[in-house]
Amino acid sequence: MPDTPGEPQNIYDDPGFFAGYSTLERFGAGWERAMEHADLLALLPAIDGRRVLDLGCGAGQLAHYLATSGAAEVVGVDVSERMLALARAGWAHPRVTYQRSAIEAVAFPPARFDLVVSSLVLHYVDDYAGLIRRCAGWLAPGGILVYSTEHPIFTARLPGEGWVLDEAGRRTRWGLDRYADEGAREENWFVPGVRKVHRTFATLINGLLDAGLVIERVVEPMPSAQWLRDHPLAGDERRRPVFLLIRARKP
Ligand SMILES: C[S@@+](CC[C@H](N)C(=O)[O-])C[C@H]1O[C@@H](n2cnc3c(N)ncnc32)[C@H](O)[C@@H]1O
Repeated sequence: MPDTPGEPQNIYDDPGFFAGYSTLERFGAGWERAMEHADLLALLPAIDGRRVLDLGCGAGQLAHYLATSGAAEVVGVDVSERMLALARAGWAHPRVTYQRSAIEAVAFPPARFDLVVSSLVLHYVDDYAGLIRRCAGWLAPGGILVYSTEHPIFTARLPGEGWVLDEAGRRTRWGLDRYADEGAREENWFVPGVRKVHRTFATLINGLLDAGLVIERVVEPMPSAQWLRDHPLAGDERRRPVFLLIRARKP
């Protein structure tokens, strides 16, 4: 699908991509079976009464979970019409509002939210530092930012597949390249040309510090023994991190 310069790719509205993505276990009702799910929930503060912003809310499972956990309100923002249609149809709640927008384009008054969450979206965003600065502005003092993103060790594999294979096709190790070269890299994920942004670990951390946030926890989720029993073909998942989860607080 053609990209419009200066705008996010919106690959989730591409029919071919969407058909493939829809087959993932984590999609739809299976979201709690995602490998990093328990780690993400463990980073959330007490939800009761919080005003929450969910950046890249997708099909709305997390927004709905937050509302049923007692959030005063949840604003879910996503650029994909298809994802928002699913959210409105399947994960509606009287205290959740779904809004179609690129997260780069949304604006809110200062101190508008007590909690900002974003699950697996920031690796699609070019201006990470700017977005984190804006999130810090939208948080009230004492507010919390919790996000998950693809790990730099994972995004640095692109444009390749990652695993280095021997002559017999066995996975010998994980390969990454041009670690310091930050910016967009494309991958073949259901369709060719899926655009993600590689950033170093230092850039991710420093973006939070430069925005005046205090980092409270950093998690590199690894599959539990139970998850591996439920996913017997996924034993290699412990050989390298795929996700990075961070919780930060506005002082
Ligand atoms: C991997 S899905 C995650 C969805 C949901 N947060 C979850 O964890 O199930 C990524 C989502 O981010 C959205 N997205 C990607 N880039 C975006 C952008 N620049 N602005 C708004 N939404 C974006 C996609 O449309 C998609 O719904």
